[in-house]
Amino acid sequence: MKIAVIGAGNVGATAAQRIAERELAEEVALIDVVEGIPQGKGLDLTQTGPVERFDTRVTGANDLSAAARSALVIVTAGIARKPGMSRDDLQATNASIVRSTCAEAARIAPDAIFLIVTNPLDVMCAVALKATGLDPRRVVGMAGILDTARFRTFIALELGVSVEDVTALVLGGHGDAMVPLPRCSSVGGIPLTELLPKEKIEAIVQRTRDGGAEIVSLLKTGSAYYAPSAAIAEMAEAILRNKRRVLPCSAYLTGQYGLRDLFLGVPVKLGAGGVQGILEIGLQPDEQAALHRSAHEVQVSVAKLAR
Ligand code: LAC
Repeated sequence: MKIAVIGAGNVGATAAQRIAERELAEEVALIDVVEGIPQGKGLDLTQTGPVERFDTRVTGANDLSAAARSALVIVTAGIARKPGMSRDDLQATNASIVRSTCAEAARIAPDAIFLIVTNPLDVMCAVALKATGLDPRRVVGMAGILDTARFRTFIALELGVSVEDVTALVLGGHGDAMVPLPRCSSVGGIPLTELLPKEKIEAIVQRTRDGGAEIVSLLKTGSAYYAPSAAIAEMAEAILRNKRRVLPCSAYLTGQYGLRDLFLGVPVKLGAGGVQGILEIGLQPDEQAALHRSAHEVQVSVAKLAR
């Protein structure tokens, strides 16, 4: 069993590490256009095996042909925003990288599930679906687990309790309009709304929305990768071990939540074959309105690419 990770930056390489440490595959093919980087990081990671006790080999390559026979292709390739660059510039550049990469990877690994990570996430999922021509259930995006992990962390910190006892849910696109749902969040089975006042919950919701930007402003030269790569590994495990996990992921909607023909973060049953189903929750009017606002943002961005 092989997993291909395209893009050997911090997110890709750390995802390869987590996948190897969990022995989710015999081989992880780490692929990047920069010569030497995937090979060097791959060798370093493989040499971690004797100490960390894993037999997964991480091989490095500059050519997508290394993705052959992969069961899962994880796409992290793309650039981060540079000074003076607009969100639209980033989107156009990353769309062209994701489009060509996914089209070729789907030819080389025709049986693979595609896990998309490149930003802007929900838009890149749409690009990947079009480029690969795959069944939409085989294209899924990572963002909801990351956003939910941030939400859970802030709740646990506020209450001084273990993160393990905090469950939460964030819906919508991976952007400023994401929709954390306090009503679907709980601590040891107790609804969050019973434990914290409204203003505290609102502050946590806002910090969750700004979670990515908070880290970018601290790091200055890049964005988060520890939590993103953990979210990738959780999705990879769900798919490859057919766990049927219920996880928030960016999935292709065909009428769920009153939305169709776009990728958006929703609760997904994730297992063999990718998205086995989308779970629908009856939303309150304000939650539904917020989800549709977030969907609109994604649709506007997708439409810009089409122009
Ligand atoms: C984040 C960016 C990288 O949320 O999407 O950290």
